[in-house]
Amino acid sequence: NLPAQVSIFEVGARDGLQNEKPVSTQNKIRLIDDLAKAGVKRIEAGSFVSPKWVPQMADSMDVIQEMPRAKGVVYSALTPNMKGFELALASGIDEVAIFGAASESFSQKNINCSIEESIARFQPLMEAAQKANIKVRGYVSCVLGCPYEGHIESTAVAHVADVLHQMGCYEISLGDTIGIGTPINARRMVETVASKVPVEQLALHFHDTYGQALPNILACLETGVSVIDASVAGLGGCPYAKGASGNVATEDVVYMLHGMGVSTGIDLHLLAQAGHRISTALGRSSGSKVAQAIGHE
Ligand code: HMG
Ligand code: MG
Repeated sequence: NLPAQVSIFEVGARDGLQNEKPVSTQNKIRLIDDLAKAGVKRIEAGSFVSPKWVPQMADSMDVIQEMPRAKGVVYSALTPNMKGFELALASGIDEVAIFGAASESFSQKNINCSIEESIARFQPLMEAAQKANIKVRGYVSCVLGCPYEGHIESTAVAHVADVLHQMGCYEISLGDTIGIGTPINARRMVETVASKVPVEQLALHFHDTYGQALPNILACLETGVSVIDASVAGLGGCPYAKGASGNVATEDVVYMLHGMGVSTGIDLHLLAQAGHRISTALGRSSGSKVAQAIGHE
């Protein structure tokens, strides 16, 4: 019992590029445009965070203001606090995302405050977003383990997910930040979270550090989740999670889904070429096995 359709939330231009060596603003814009042309309908274009913390995202305002907007595509940006939200609003982005964690240590290292303090910071942002009629997505990091604390209880994940959902986040993305999970644990975690937040409002955000992302996604799809975050060419990682490799490659997810008769609306060939182009700009080869098999035109 797999969903007939899956919505791909493309994070390569943000989660990917935030942890690669810097690329030009023009290369980012080209990537975002290529993704839209490949049929991707949800694109995370950047983040409004401290440029001291993540210099790779310092040009997000320029990227968002200069990128072409495709019809029917929703563009998003990360906003950790009010300052970030105000910048996002000025940029003209369609929606924003707040990001919390299920682990105290990770929260401190990533956003310099406790889980509770982060929730307090998100509150005025949620109110401002509601006034501005901007939808807010919520991320929970470390859902299958933490680089500093190790094991994380699924009940802790469910608690933070529930808080973000009750604050008004329309979708909660569950981040296996360090790609440490395996399929049965991953499915159990999603089931635990789904006892608090409707499964229709959950998304999977799995990094591929241990090569488990695809099997984890397949196992979790059986719970009814139908939104998957992925990064073209497997770009990126997380600057505050040592050793984290990129998100699962979008091309690999799309190939697997199409092979099982699950539609995504994405043209795999165009997607692979988008991944090859940004990889060339980064001076590396695509991290997607499927894109390597398809080849670079
Ligand atoms: P802080 O130092 O505690 O913040 O950082 P502060 O409020 O004390 O401000 C310090 C300075 O930062 C000030 O500047 C502020 O103006 C500036 P100064 O006076 O020193 O010149 N500042 C900002 N500048 C631009 N945009 C802002 C902003 N806020 C403050 N929004 C803060 C707190 C949250 C800002 C910082 O810790 C930060 O930027 N963290 C971001 C970390 C990050 O981007 N991590 C990666 C994204 S999360 C992720 O990848 C996980 C995810 O993919 C899911 C998963 O995989 O699990 C989503
Ligand atoms: Mg991530």
